Amino acid sequence: MTIVSVAAAAYIVAALLFVLALAGLSRHESAKAGNYYGIVGMAVALVATIVLAIDTDIETLGLVLLIVAMVIGAVIGLQLARTVEMTGMPELIALLHSFVGLAAVLVGWNGYLHVEADSGGLAALHLERLDMLGIHSAEVFIGVFIGAVTFTGSIVANLKLSAKMKSAPLVLPGKNFINLGALVLFIALTVWFVIDPQLWLLVVVTLLALALGWHLVASIGGGDMPVVVSMLNSYSGWAAAASGFLLDNNLLIIVGALVGSSGAYLSYIMCNAMNRSFISVIAGGFGIEAGPSEDTDYGEHRETNAEAVAELLGDAKSVIITPGYGMAVAQAQYGVAQLTQKLRDKGVEVRFGIHPVAGRLPGHMNVLLAEAKVPYDIVLELDEINDDFDETTVVLVIGANDTVNPAAAEDPSSPIAGMPVLTVWEAENVIIFKRSMASGYAGVQNPLFFRENSQMLCGDAKERVEDILRTL
Ligand code: TAP
Repeated sequence: MTIVSVAAAAYIVAALLFVLALAGLSRHESAKAGNYYGIVGMAVALVATIVLAIDTDIETLGLVLLIVAMVIGAVIGLQLARTVEMTGMPELIALLHSFVGLAAVLVGWNGYLHVEADSGGLAALHLERLDMLGIHSAEVFIGVFIGAVTFTGSIVANLKLSAKMKSAPLVLPGKNFINLGALVLFIALTVWFVIDPQLWLLVVVTLLALALGWHLVASIGGGDMPVVVSMLNSYSGWAAAASGFLLDNNLLIIVGALVGSSGAYLSYIMCNAMNRSFISVIAGGFGIEAGPSEDTDYGEHRETNAEAVAELLGDAKSVIITPGYGMAVAQAQYGVAQLTQKLRDKGVEVRFGIHPVAGRLPGHMNVLLAEAKVPYDIVLELDEINDDFDETTVVLVIGANDTVNPAAAEDPSSPIAGMPVLTVWEAENVIIFKRSMASGYAGVQNPLFFRENSQMLCGDAKERVEDILRTL
């Protein structure tokens, strides 16, 4: 048995482990096992790739560089994984996608330098003999394009998620034509490059794709960012698959296709959950125009204090808690779990209403509540709880904003119009925990704060929950 066939078998094992990892990650109970499958699969893939490289007479310097790169990557990866806050996960994921994009660009350029730019070289002559030079050129061009779009798109996503860039959509005049024009130009340049692979064409497509990636994601508003992150995940998969074709690496093609298709499917599910058009989001907010100016006067808001809220809760028949990103920031979940227990002991019915995009990553609130040991059976999804608000005495909105914004349901000109929201305003009393009157992630004002049945409990959510616990 040759080393090549052993490596090919190892690649099949790794691919199967990646499929098992995806299957495992799709359910709470099996998510941990799914992670382990992924780790083992990646270890098998790495070892097989190194063994293959050694077998193809890699120079000692190359091998040393490979190992040094792996050690540096592993140290940085371990450190990041240990220190990243739960709330920082999405921006880290966006950054990781940008690396995949950059790698695809480098692989594409490397492919060009080895083949098209070295027309008398062995690789070029070999491909020419097989009549595959055109296919190689197309792979280079498409790989560089997808990689560069993913690279800058992911950097913008990272900047928006970490609030280093405004989350409001960039609305350039004729933005849809810019995107469409860039796509048409790319197709024309690809044909040109396949016929006559010149360096300047590769430079132009790299710059074009870098600008397009930036513009596509900058044009999408904060409320749609969850979809963007999973869409970039999908792009990074296709970029990896393109690199797999160039490097003649089957595992990279399989893994790229798995990531690409699962990311696309996740984006589709998210779009459905948020009532967004899939095409509109992947086309950089196609058809979404600038929202109204944000200076609408909704009147005065009312403030309350922890003692009054404690009294209200003590007399309540039923309470629904709708947590959001602020609960994660304040790390208020443990206090919230204690409050829940205390109220349940007093005979108050307490349930949680979880919006599909509350927080900053899918399942963010579920993870926090599970961490604080809140029983699963009282944690309900939006669809399961939305009809019950009108029979509820008190709703505690803990650090949520966009996900409870009535403008989404009532104001067709709102940037988040059509997005399903928790209809908390139908309850008898709504208490909103937040530190200021600032808007949420989507940058949209929230008329809920000014409703007659709403009261603001200002300050850090954790401190306010503890104040209520003390009074109770
Ligand atoms: P947001 O709309 O982000 O609002 C969070 C609120 O928490 C803010 O209004 C903030 O107000 C408050 N807050 C922050 N720190 C706090 C603290 N220490 N104590 C009390 N309040 C605090 O939250 P949401 O309702 O969960 O909505 C999520 C948003 O993020 C959506 O727009 C969604 O599209 C987007 N998004 C979601 C995801 C996923 S997959 N879940 C990924 C990316 C983006 P103050 O500053 O006034 O306190």
